[in-house]
Amino acid sequence: MNVTLTTNPKQKPDSSKLGFGKYFTDHMLVMDYENGAWKEPEIVPYAPFEMYPATNVLHYAQGIFEGAKAYRTKEGKITVFRIDDNFIRMNNSATRMCMPTFDAKVVKAALFELLKLEKDWIPTEPGTALYIRPTMIANEEVLGVHASHKYRFFIILSPVGSYYAHGLQPTKILVEEHYVRTAIGGTGEAKCMGNYAASLMGGELANKKGYDQALWLDAKEHKYVEEVGSMNIFFVIGDEVVTPQLVGSILPGITRNSCIQVLKKYGYKISERRISMDEIVAAYDKGELKECFGSGTAAVISPVGLITYQGKDMVVNDGKMGEITSFLYDKITGIQSERYPDEFGWVTEVK
Ligand code: COI
Repeated sequence: MNVTLTTNPKQKPDSSKLGFGKYFTDHMLVMDYENGAWKEPEIVPYAPFEMYPATNVLHYAQGIFEGAKAYRTKEGKITVFRIDDNFIRMNNSATRMCMPTFDAKVVKAALFELLKLEKDWIPTEPGTALYIRPTMIANEEVLGVHASHKYRFFIILSPVGSYYAHGLQPTKILVEEHYVRTAIGGTGEAKCMGNYAASLMGGELANKKGYDQALWLDAKEHKYVEEVGSMNIFFVIGDEVVTPQLVGSILPGITRNSCIQVLKKYGYKISERRISMDEIVAAYDKGELKECFGSGTAAVISPVGLITYQGKDMVVNDGKMGEITSFLYDKITGIQSERYPDEFGWVTEVK
């Protein structure tokens, strides 16, 4: 693989001030698609792309991405969490968006070379990681609305801390009753750029009212819970942990799936099913809404302390992180950091 090293390495940020996605490492991976085939991936210095204003992704948003994380263990090993699942999902997103799929083995090997080169950028403080952002964009200079003939795949790396500025403090979510993120038959289950653009309005409205995020409902009846946009959502109702089933409009989260597998293995009652806001309100009124949390690569496991729906404030677990939420946070971050054995085969060493 061709590697061009930077002549101007950057100063690494203080790991107590990372936040999310603000710093980028010295190098990135780039792979172009032209004439019906992917070229060899290359490692090059992190730098701006040159693009014509007519480049089609800038107009029609034919673009997809992923989020994964790399860690550095106490012994100095580099590891990645469920990276094969990211590449499987990215290829599914590519198919949905009429983009070419890629050979995950080639990309994974190239990513591992990039991670080895950037190993000193991997933060080691608890709660930090090196975020991996694989992205694919349509890269043809043409304004006709059709699938592009040229693409650019790239991977950038960013040392990150907590996604939310308040860390593990429970988040506040506002149920969005008017706007929708996506509908069944739409692109909701693909990790495409447009889904995130569509979610901005709900997010902004929620932020203005002092909430961290909007909770999206289904597009048809505005009744059933879907996801938060940057995370999937779980509720603990009585002794049942519930998360919306994947109906086509919800992102099939890899952390969501990890939570389900851990809960099943440890004997919890976990259901993937439709959940209406009426059910959440009724459970809250009966004192049965015990916990609520979000899951995502960036958000990890984030407790939710307040849900507001139709003007009704529902304070969950006295606004504190609950027992099952803490168990999952500890278990999943423990497996990621090798504090616990990798009993699910999710961790790969980068060699
Ligand atoms: C992730 O969790 O990795 C995501 O992609 C969600 C968000 C930060 C866009």
